[in-house]
Order: sequence, then C-alpha cells, then structure tokens
Amino acid sequence: MLLENKVVLVTGAGSGIGQASAIRFAQEGAKVMVADVRAESASNTAAMIEKAAGTAKSIAVDVRVPAQVERMVNETIASFGRLDVLFNNAGVYVPKNVVDTSEEEWDWVVDVCLKGVFLGCKYAIPQMIKQGGGVIINTASGAGLEGVPNLGAYQAAKGGVVIMSKGIALDFARNQIRCVSICPGVIETPIAENCNQVPAGSSSQVWQRTGNMHPLGRNGKPEEVAALAAFLASDQAGFITGVAVPIDGGFNAGAFIPPGLIRASS
Ligand SMILES: NC(=O)c1ccc[n+]([C@@H]2O[C@H](COP(=O)([O-])OP(=O)(O)OC[C@H]3O[C@@H](n4cnc5c(N)ncnc54)[C@H](O)[C@@H]3O)[C@@H](O)[C@H]2O)c1
Repeated sequence: MLLENKVVLVTGAGSGIGQASAIRFAQEGAKVMVADVRAESASNTAAMIEKAAGTAKSIAVDVRVPAQVERMVNETIASFGRLDVLFNNAGVYVPKNVVDTSEEEWDWVVDVCLKGVFLGCKYAIPQMIKQGGGVIINTASGAGLEGVPNLGAYQAAKGGVVIMSKGIALDFARNQIRCVSICPGVIETPIAENCNQVPAGSSSQVWQRTGNMHPLGRNGKPEEVAALAAFLASDQAGFITGVAVPIDGGFNAGAFIPPGLIRASS
C-alpha cells in the first residue's frame, strides 16, 4: 500500500475528484479527513470509506474562511495525531469571460480556488515543519497552464495555484515538504457537467463533445486523478516537487486539431 499510516486531509472531498481521491487514499492505507462545504456530502464520503473498512472522519469547512480552515487542520491533528498530506482540491467554476464576470463571481471563484489553497497551506505547513516533512497537492487545471475561452476568473485562480505551488515548493523544500499542483483536463464530475451548462438528460452528448477536445478522444475519470494524487502523495514520489502535472489526455501537449480537419498525407 502506498500510504500506510499516513494522515491525509482532502478538501472538496464530498464529490468528484476529491471523493474518488479520499476513497483511494484510504484504500492505500491512509487515515483520511474528508472536508467539504457541504457537510452531508463530506459525511457520505467518510461513510463510504468506513463501509469499506477504511478510516475516515468528516468535517464541514468553507475553504474561504480562515478560522474554518485553521479548525479543519487542528481537527485533523486532534483526530489522527499528525498531518502528512494536504490535498487542496475544493474548486468552483463560472463559465464566463472577464467582461461578463461580475465582481461577486470573480471573488467567489478566486476565493475558493486560490485563497482556499493559500489558507490550507498557511495552516498546514507549520505542523508539517514540526513533524519533519509533508506533502501538499493543489488541484489547479489545464486552464491554469493554457488559455481557454470563457474562463476569466477560473483560469486566473488556477494559474495562480500553479505558480504559488512552485513557490511553496522552493520556500519549504529544506523542511522536507514537497508541493505540487495537478492540472486535469475535463474530468467527468458534477462541476464539469454543470459548467458545460447542459440541460438535464443530455449529459452523454456533452461528455462526447468535451471528450473530443482531448487528443486521446475522451474525458478523464475521477479515479484516474485519484491514482495520480495517491502516487504524488506517497514516498514513491519522494524526489518530485515544484511541478505542475497535467492529467489531460494530451490537452496540454499543444494545439490539437481533431481528426477530419487535417488533410491525410498521401
Ligand atoms: N472536473 C473537471 O473537469 C476539472 C478539470 C480541471 C480542474 N478541476 C478541479 O478539480 C477540483 C475538484 O473538482 P471536481 O471536478 O471534483 O468538482 P465537484 O464539483 O465534483 O467537487 C468540488 C467539491 O468542492 C466543494 N466546494 C465548493 N466550494 C467549497 C468551499 N468554499 N469550501 C469547501 N469545499 C467547497 C463542493 O462542495 C464539491 O464537493 C476543483 O478544484 C476543480 O476546479 C476539475
């Protein structure tokens, strides 16, 4: 098992990538604190882990609120005795360009996606220093590496997560704290479905459309991101820090021209 006896804290773990990762971390032997702004979703994930004989607790947290994030970190340490891995994964999305984005929407997206990561790191790192090390994984996005239409606030926040993660890696490397960001393409989760603004019932068409944007011709699955996160969190990745890791079916490899638009070579 990759994470035997490690203590892992995952935000946004009530759904999607966070839920799949919390479950995978537990399968790899970790004790998991499941955190989400939706208390019921968090406790559902924790119950799923316990049902499969894993160890988990849940906590309600709004990652935008400093006192709540500090409490989340303290509760993790009080429950499990330490904190080895922080997975800052909570995120929200507004599919608009900067002209159409309201100030409230900007603040919401940037506060959850970027300030939330800052606060998680701010309160977890002192504990990791005390313990002699730790791992921080921050969920950014392919949209934090490349320009993508209609993602004004989101890509600003995710680009910020990518570069902040590199700086944190440098600041705390000598404390044996590794910090990386992960940059998913479209992953089949509620956020991706909602952001594509589909009418109910037509999700398969939407998934097909977004799948075609990736060179591999499909979307990713939350479990695939969870597998990457489990590896990065583990000692197997002990020499990896300061990187932004795409998990995107080739989306970040360059300008992708779908089959049919390029003349076949004769
Ligand atoms: N799904 C994708 O295509 C995709 C692509 C790139 C990046 N991401 C990123 O992956 C992460 C996880 O997203 P997902 O796809 O699993 O979406 P999701 O909507 O399934 O999960 C996001 C979770 O974050 C929680 N959350 C929202 N606001 C919060 C807050 N203020 N405090 C605490 N929790 C909060 C939600 O309740 C939800 O459970 C996000 O950061 C997202 O931006 C997703």
